[in-house]
Amino acid sequence: MATKMKSMIYRCANCGHTESKWLGRCPECGQWNTLREAAQTQGRTDRAGETFPLPIKSIDPGEGARFSTGFPEVDRVLGGGLMRGSVTLIGGEPGIGKSTLLLQLCARAETKGRLLYVSGEESPAQIRMRADRLGALRDTLEVFCASDLGLVRATLDALKPSIAVVDSVQTLRADEAGSVPGTANQIKYCAQELSAWAKAHDSALILVAHATKEGVIAGPKAAEHLVDAVLSFEQGEGDMRVLRASKNRFGSAEEVGLFRMGEAGLEEVTDPSGLFLVRREAGQMPVGAAVAPVHEGSRVLLVEIQALTVSAKAGLTRVYSERVEAGRVSRIAAILEKHTGLRFSDQDIYVNVAGGMRLTEPGIDLALACALFSARSDTALPANSALAGELSLAGELRPVRQMRRRAKAAATLGFTRLLGPPESKGESGNTKGRVAAPPETAGWIQASDIQSALKALFGK
Ligand code: TYD
Ligand code: MG
Repeated sequence: MATKMKSMIYRCANCGHTESKWLGRCPECGQWNTLREAAQTQGRTDRAGETFPLPIKSIDPGEGARFSTGFPEVDRVLGGGLMRGSVTLIGGEPGIGKSTLLLQLCARAETKGRLLYVSGEESPAQIRMRADRLGALRDTLEVFCASDLGLVRATLDALKPSIAVVDSVQTLRADEAGSVPGTANQIKYCAQELSAWAKAHDSALILVAHATKEGVIAGPKAAEHLVDAVLSFEQGEGDMRVLRASKNRFGSAEEVGLFRMGEAGLEEVTDPSGLFLVRREAGQMPVGAAVAPVHEGSRVLLVEIQALTVSAKAGLTRVYSERVEAGRVSRIAAILEKHTGLRFSDQDIYVNVAGGMRLTEPGIDLALACALFSARSDTALPANSALAGELSLAGELRPVRQMRRRAKAAATLGFTRLLGPPESKGESGNTKGRVAAPPETAGWIQASDIQSALKALFGK
């Protein structure tokens, strides 16, 4: 015999109204004998698979529930568009362009439904002025300048927007969670409430969160596990802006979106492959610079890594590197010192990436090593060479994925040689002998360790 579940509620089959005990007549719509037992869940209760299990093969993956934001770069980062019934948190330093991006998104998103832009930071007139400047006016877009969660919820209930932007979570305040806005408790509570609303109404909710210079979204960090995707909007060099996902329940978290902040707001960078290169007279490469083809999501970008080493004072050495993790720079310097005999442990090391791109991919190890070696030995790298490969502590060059695509991207931008590890099994199926690269790709020079790579480049 089935035991009765504790978390049962009674739901009216006519209007959806719920009651904690059974009643003969629904107090909401007045119908008789319409209350049925239902399991209690957050948000919607009529979803198969959420109230009872379903065979996995019979579940609709819901890909049709995506719609385009009107920005292919944003769609890419989200995994192919914005998902209905999802919550996205977007963080970034104040002034980076979050409000600009989201207002433009509201104007462009491919949805027939209504859109709501809630702002706790600006006045309606300010938003209208900005929308004018951005060309972001739209009949179905409504602006609500409020910070009280109750008011925001009531507005959501009244409008039932298909996209709702809340700018920012730090300005929201719920009486239930204390009176000071911006505390972790407030943010968590408000995010939880709004996210339940979005799920129950199949709306896409976007929450803005201000981050500090260090990139840690202090209060909003508490809300990260409540949301489906966490994006960060970062500063590149000058007017460049980079959008990335650090969490994405509906796609990969590897894609990056690239934008420029201009007169008319944010513009997408559609062909970024050569954006992070420094253009110079042919045949010239300065000391300390090396180029790596990096694999960012589904694209290959060519990026120049720059290094400088100077003797440290009083035996106290430091690594100054914002775009590549400093610990990684120290590790590569240690590998070089061990395997080439060139001393780094008495040097201050500076590393930068042209264009301000933050690099995390393992494939940049070789280019970083060569930039450091070049800087320390005061010898420039040969021009037209790109470098890819991961370095082990033993100084071996480890395979990285998509070498052929890297070679192709390098060739397109005029690089004639790609120095990298031997091809791994599975990349082409053929691992015998030297790799005959297709004619449109850069020549692939294979090296199995750091010494042979440096020999191929510097002849020493
Ligand atoms: P904003 O979107 O307000 O940043 P956030 O919401 O992340 O705090 O962006 C503000 C900055 O962007 C501001 O310094 C002005 C600049 N900006 C432009 O350069 N062009 C534009 O069209 C707009 C709207 C803003
Ligand atoms: Mg803003």
